[in-house]
Amino acid sequence: MSHLFSPYTLRGITFPNRIAVPPMCTYSAEDGMANDWHLAHLGSRASGGAGLIITEATAVTPIGRISPNDLGLWSDEQITPIARVVRFIHQQGSVAGVQLAHAGRKGATWVPGNGSGSIPIDQGGWPVVGPSALSFGPGYDTPSALDETGIQQVIADFSASAQRALTAGYRLMEVHAAHGYLLHQFLSPLSNQRTDAYGGSFENRTRLTREVVAAVRQVWPQDLPLFVRLSATDWVEGGWSLEETIALAKILRGEGVDLIDTSSGGLLPNANMVLGPGYQTGFANRVRNEAGIATGAVGLITAAAQADHIIRTQQADLVLVGREILRDPYWPLHAAQALGQAAAWPSPYLRAAPSGSVPRNRCGQ
Ligand SMILES: Cc1cc2nc3c(=O)[nH]c(=O)nc-3n(C[C@H](O)[C@H](O)[C@H](O)COP(=O)(O)O)c2cc1C
Repeated sequence: MSHLFSPYTLRGITFPNRIAVPPMCTYSAEDGMANDWHLAHLGSRASGGAGLIITEATAVTPIGRISPNDLGLWSDEQITPIARVVRFIHQQGSVAGVQLAHAGRKGATWVPGNGSGSIPIDQGGWPVVGPSALSFGPGYDTPSALDETGIQQVIADFSASAQRALTAGYRLMEVHAAHGYLLHQFLSPLSNQRTDAYGGSFENRTRLTREVVAAVRQVWPQDLPLFVRLSATDWVEGGWSLEETIALAKILRGEGVDLIDTSSGGLLPNANMVLGPGYQTGFANRVRNEAGIATGAVGLITAAAQADHIIRTQQADLVLVGREILRDPYWPLHAAQALGQAAAWPSPYLRAAPSGSVPRNRCGQ
């Protein structure tokens, strides 16, 4: 058996294979509410055979949205529409996870294709917040620095949204602390110039992430997995580093986090990222082996043999395949064929499947 198609268990959840769809914004929600688009888009990735689907960055408060069309879980009204999508994902035998996020100073930006940078308030934008009054870059609004009350509100918003995610039926939670969004803004000394208990030392800069994770773990049941997405490096001299990522991963392991979804970058627009096939896999490998915690590898993983190799050589426990699964929702089924692996196909499609395929065990039916 290929390693890519071996099942994997974390707490009370068994993923049918090691292929995950990473969170990817689709800029298609109104007032944070899921609709038919989300059902068709995420549903087809689930019927395509990914073992885990993490839905796009889901805002914990309206001002924490990246764009006006992000999903949200800041209100009870948002539970029913996303619950329908979650139910369908589970019916396909996949696990539905949610990424809870707060965009901080990178909030209120145009949907790609409509413009770049911050949306003016009179055109539907909103005032943004951050650790310090430092903008992401030219064309982006300067945030107001959160005070102690504002910080406590962020923690409470993550906790309340986690509770709503549970009610919606999600079986996995990911806290977004990467890509230059609010929690990452606190982690990096380049965006966090606070002089209080949330800035300065490593302990202080990591405090908000640790407090959010602790609050979420309290409401997220012990038998369900909790991931944290971290940017392993800012790719900028003097920024958040791989060594700090490993140190934080060790601490998070002790806080009940099960897996670090290991990404990078996003803090500053001018970072010198070195892109190429599997360019972040080395980070996942270092975190896994030096912090002693499971990892997900992500970033330009496009080929079946490449993905299988990452799992086989124990560089990561899951692979997250993003843009390649946007191009081909049936990537997992095609990967199985490439690896000579009998795959579980949706039973209505069995007549189109290669010989040896088996009908997928659809849970929830
Ligand atoms: C359209 C699009 C939207 C994305 N939205 C998110 C997001 O909501 N949250 C997140 O953590 N990463 C987001 N990402 C990053 C992906 O999760 C992934 O880390 C990245 O695309 C690299 O993987 P890939 O090379 O397989 O695409 C997005 C990427 C794309 C292409």
